Amino acid sequence: MHHSDQTADDTADNTFSADERAETETPSAEAHAELRRALQRRPRTVPPRWLYDDRGSDLFDQITRLPEYYQTEAERQILADHSTMIAEMTAATTVIELGSGTSDKTRTLLDAFAARGMIERFVPLDVSEATLLDAAAMLGERYPDLDVSPVIGDFNQHLHRLPTGGTRLVAFLGGTIGNFYREERTAFLGALADVLDPGDWVLLGVDLIKPVDRLLSAYNDSAGTTDAFIRNALSVINRELGGNIDVGNFDYVPFWDGREERIDMRLRACEPERARIEALDLDVELESGEELRIEISTKFSQGRLLAELAEVGFADGAFFTDPANDFGIALVRRQP
Ligand code: AVJ
Repeated sequence: MHHSDQTADDTADNTFSADERAETETPSAEAHAELRRALQRRPRTVPPRWLYDDRGSDLFDQITRLPEYYQTEAERQILADHSTMIAEMTAATTVIELGSGTSDKTRTLLDAFAARGMIERFVPLDVSEATLLDAAAMLGERYPDLDVSPVIGDFNQHLHRLPTGGTRLVAFLGGTIGNFYREERTAFLGALADVLDPGDWVLLGVDLIKPVDRLLSAYNDSAGTTDAFIRNALSVINRELGGNIDVGNFDYVPFWDGREERIDMRLRACEPERARIEALDLDVELESGEELRIEISTKFSQGRLLAELAEVGFADGAFFTDPANDFGIALVRRQP
C-alpha cells in the first residue's frame, strides 16, 4: 500500500512553474479572450468560471441547502446507497475526482473503497490550490493508508496531468457537466476517453429531466439566492477586470429551453446599459430588454446520457438514481 505522510510530499510531483500556476490560478489571458468573445456573441454570454469567486462559492453553497434545490441531497443519497456496489464493480485502485473542491461527497465513495481494501491512491483535481491542499490534508488524516496526490488543474484543459497506472475511476459529480454546451460536452468526454485506458471507469452525476415547474423553482428560489449567485458574475467582472457594469440595472430571468433541454439563466437589462470593461479593452452596449446569458444547466434522460457516453467509447456499466428519480449517476467503462 502506498503511503504518504505529508501534504508537502503529496504535492511535490505536482509543483508547477510560476507560469503554469498563473495559468490555472488567476484568470488567464485565455480566460479574458474567452469572455471577450462570449460577450460579443448573441445572446451575449458569460462563461461559468466568472461565477465562482469567494462570494460566488459561498452563494453556491447556500443554494445546495435551499429547499427548492434537490440535487445535492439526491446525489449524496445515491452515493450513500450505491458506493459499495461502485467499489465492487470497478475494483479501482486509483480514484480521481475532477473539480473536487472540498471532496465532500467523495468521502462516502472513499469509505466504500477503503472498506473493500483495494484502493491505493486518490487524486483530487481542482483549479484552486488552497482548497485542494486543505482537502488533501483532511483526507490524509482520514485515510492514513491512502496515497493522496492532488493535481492542480482545470478539467477542461489539464486531463493529461492525471496519473496513469492501475484501474482508474474518474468521478465527475455535482451535475457540473450540465454547464457545458453540447460541443464542449462532446469535447470533454472525448478528451477523457483519450486519457483513459480500456477498463478504466467514469462516474458521472447529472440532473434528470422532470416537470418544468420543479426545475424552474430550483433555479428561481424564493429566498433570491440563485438571483444573487447569477448576478454576482457581473460584480466579479467589475472587480477583477475593471468593469463598471450597473449590476442593479438587471433582472434575473431564468427559463426552460425545451428544445435544448436546459435551464437558461439570464440577466435582462432594465434600461439601456453602456459599460466599459477596462482589462478587456471592451465597451459593451445593451439595449433595454437585452439579455446576458450567465449559465446553462442541461438536464438529461438516462437514455440520452448513455448514448452520448457510448459515442465516445464509454459503455457497459450501470445507472443509479435516488428513490424520487431526480438525479442520476452513470457508471461506465472505457471500451477496448
Ligand atoms: C453546480 C452546475 C450543478 O447547474 O444546478 C445552481 C449550478 N446554478 N444554481 C446547477 C447552479 C444555479 C449548478 N451546478
